[in-house]
Amino acid sequence: MLNFYIETFGCQMNEKDSDLMDQLMRESNFLPTADIGAADILIINTCSIRAKAEQKVYSLLGSLRHRKREDSRFRIAVTGCLAQQEGRKMIARMPHVDVVIGPQSIYDLPRLLKEAEKNRRSVTATDLSTDFTIPSVLPDLKNGSPHKRFVTIMQGCNNYCTYCIVPYTRGRESSRQVEDIMKEARHLVELGVKEITLLGQNVNSYGNDQPVANRTSFPELLRQVARIEGLRRLRFTTSNPKDLSPALMTCFKDLDNLCSHFHLPVQSGSDKILQKMNRKYTVESYLDKVAGLREARSGLALTTDLIVGFPGETEKDFQKTMDLLQSVQFHSAFSFKYSSRPPARSCSFQDDIGEEEKSRRLSILQERQKEITLKRNQEYVGSIMNVMVEGPSRSSDETSGRTDSNHIVNFPCPRKLEPGEIIPVKITRACFNTLRGEILFESDPTRLDLARHASMA
Ligand code: 5AD
Ligand code: SF4
Repeated sequence: MLNFYIETFGCQMNEKDSDLMDQLMRESNFLPTADIGAADILIINTCSIRAKAEQKVYSLLGSLRHRKREDSRFRIAVTGCLAQQEGRKMIARMPHVDVVIGPQSIYDLPRLLKEAEKNRRSVTATDLSTDFTIPSVLPDLKNGSPHKRFVTIMQGCNNYCTYCIVPYTRGRESSRQVEDIMKEARHLVELGVKEITLLGQNVNSYGNDQPVANRTSFPELLRQVARIEGLRRLRFTTSNPKDLSPALMTCFKDLDNLCSHFHLPVQSGSDKILQKMNRKYTVESYLDKVAGLREARSGLALTTDLIVGFPGETEKDFQKTMDLLQSVQFHSAFSFKYSSRPPARSCSFQDDIGEEEKSRRLSILQERQKEITLKRNQEYVGSIMNVMVEGPSRSSDETSGRTDSNHIVNFPCPRKLEPGEIIPVKITRACFNTLRGEILFESDPTRLDLARHASMA
């Protein structure tokens, strides 16, 4: 029996797709292995969001040439966004690749591998259908985390932000049926999952591709999922600020298990740049939405994405982004140097900010955000937070978990706690990436409620 290993790059969409491919491969009688060096089949699930992501994949593929020459049984499948973007070009550049599959075709991975084997030649499946519907596969939980899972609610994107390659790699927006989503979410909770994250490129436009008569909006969907008995935490990602509605804000008032974290990518603090990015909101409207969210849920942790060095970004525009950081005080931010990604529309704009200048702006921004994040983290010191256990912490012999606000907390614990247990932890120290704490008492529902009141007080 042949075994396989999946290497995943990129976002949560890709993580979810990798989990699914793992299951489909097992169902087709391939065996998973935890040792990349021992795999007969290496599946590389790729990202192409920036040039760097693409280089990483090509350098990994280059390094596999030798292994392929030495081992005639070894097979390589490249899936995901870079596979979609490159198609047959990837095989021309890397002839030792056996299968190239875009995100819409991953459901066919086992069959395509067998086809490549039978015909003794490489196979490509990168057609992008405009009326793609996501097949429903009930997850079996045999791989990955037992207590928290992603549920895809939609695929693709119609927004065409000028810098972004996603509409070209994941296609047009396609929403899954509410019944399919609910069935998968209920199934997960029945299997013991405590936390679900709903996934989509822009969850706020969920349902917009459905006929008006039987359309369910994202806030309505969120309410339905939140009602599933036994679901302790509900999250979602990602949202374009232009579509963030008052109805979604109200969900943060009404739904107890909706987590106190919102990832709201702003990209720039300059209206001129936002317009060139085709983001369809202004700094003022973004700030209004932030205020609305904070009013709906006090203590909401807000995170964002930012791009520096977009074509035409002057020092003044960059300063506006710095001003925005100052006024919003994000809990954390992912920030990137602009990278030109054909065929995204910004490729026709002159990439006029030099690499050195982009690096300078990025490091100024990251330094400032680091200070803000640390200050934000310090605000938690002394409070009691409910922490969902993840497992042993990576760097010490402590236990690690996440707060509802999505902060990592490490704490010493006398006994082994099960992933998914929620326990109250008193925060004693704040670092840049993590919080440290002391367990107050071991899991007990009555005391948990006490702790919840204490942390809200
Ligand atoms: N260059 C730099 N950053 C980009 N992102 C998306 N496309 C690009 C690009 N061409 C960033 C955005 C997005 C995050 C996932 O990646 O900030 O929100
Ligand atoms: Fe995810 Fe975008 Fe990368 Fe595709 S290109 S894996 S959608 S981040």
